[in-house]
Amino acid sequence: MNARRVLTGITTTGTPHLGNYVGAIRPAIRSSSQNELESFFFLADYHALIKCDEPEKVQRSTLEIAATWLALGLDPQRTVFYRQSDIPEITELTWILQCSAAKGLMNRAHAYKAAVAENVERGEDPDFAITMGLFGYPVLMAADILLFRAQDIPVGRDQIQHVEMARDIAQRFNHNFEALFVLPEACVDDSVAVLQGLDGRKMSKSYQNTIPLFESEKRLRKAINKVKTNLLEPGEPKDPDDSTVFQLWRAFADEVQTEAMRSAFQEGIAWGEAKKQLFELINEELSQPRAEYERLINDPAYIEHTLALGAEKAREECGELMHQVRSAVGIRRMN
Ligand code: TRP
Repeated sequence: MNARRVLTGITTTGTPHLGNYVGAIRPAIRSSSQNELESFFFLADYHALIKCDEPEKVQRSTLEIAATWLALGLDPQRTVFYRQSDIPEITELTWILQCSAAKGLMNRAHAYKAAVAENVERGEDPDFAITMGLFGYPVLMAADILLFRAQDIPVGRDQIQHVEMARDIAQRFNHNFEALFVLPEACVDDSVAVLQGLDGRKMSKSYQNTIPLFESEKRLRKAINKVKTNLLEPGEPKDPDDSTVFQLWRAFADEVQTEAMRSAFQEGIAWGEAKKQLFELINEELSQPRAEYERLINDPAYIEHTLALGAEKAREECGELMHQVRSAVGIRRMN
C-alpha cells in the first residue's frame, strides 16, 4: 500500500502559542513519525500577505514558526518542510485554477462573507478594504493542496470549507480538462484539545488571551498565574470540568497525572498550588525545545538552508504534475 499523503500549511502571522502547540503542531509532528504517512508541512507566507501588510512582521513570523516546528522535533529528513514562496509552481497553479474556479464559489467563503457583513453593518461599501487576495484566498489554498496530490488535510474547523472548495475546484478541473488532481479531504481530529486561554475563551491571538510557547520560563509562570479561576478558598472542593487550569493540565498530563489532579481538585487543592504544579508540568515538556528554539532563532542561515532543501524536495515532487496541468489547459510548446 502506498503511504497516504498528509499536507498542511501554517500562515506566517504571529508567534505560536500554547494553543497552536497542543491543537496543531504537536499532533502534526507526532503523526509525521508514522511510516504509513508522508507528511508535507509548509509555511504559508503568501497567505500571510492577505492578513498582514507589515513586511518585517511577515519575515519575523516565518523565522519564528520555522524555528518552532524544528525545535519541537519536526524531522526535515522524514517530512517535506518548505516555504510556500519558494515554490513558484504554487502561484503558477493558482492562476490556472483561478481561470476555472467559479466566482460564485468564492462568494460563499466564510472569511470573505464575514468581511462583507462587517462592512455592511458599519454602513460602509460592501467591498471596503477587501482585496483580491482575500477574495481569492481559497484558490491559493487549493493550489497548495492539489499541486502535491495530498489526500488528508489536517485543519481546524474554520478551514474545513476551504478544503471543500479545493475539492470542488479539483473536480471541476478534472472534468473540464484532464483528471489530474486527487480529491483532498479535511481531517479534523476531535481528540485534540482546543485549549482555553487566560480568560476561559478559546485560546486565540485575536482574543489576546494566549499563553506563550517559547518565551522565558518567567513569562510562562506569569502567564499561568493569570489563568482565570473562581473565588473558592483552599480546602474547598473545586470542579475540574469547569476549570481552565484543569483543562490545561489535561492537555499536558498523562492519564495517571490527570486522575491525580482530578482528585486534588475534589480535595480542595489551592489555586496557587494547582497553578504551580501546572507550570512545572508544562515547563518540563517545553524547557528542552525552548533551548533549541533559542539556538535556532539565532541561526537563521541554518533555517534557510533547511527550507531550501525542503523546497528542492517539494519542487521535485510537483514538477511533473505542473507540466501536465499546463499542457492540459493548452500552455504547451508548438512543436
Ligand atoms: N489557511 C490555513 C490557515 O489559515 C493555512 C493554509 C494555507 C493551509 N494553505 C493550506 C492549510 C493548505 C491546509 C492546507 O490555517
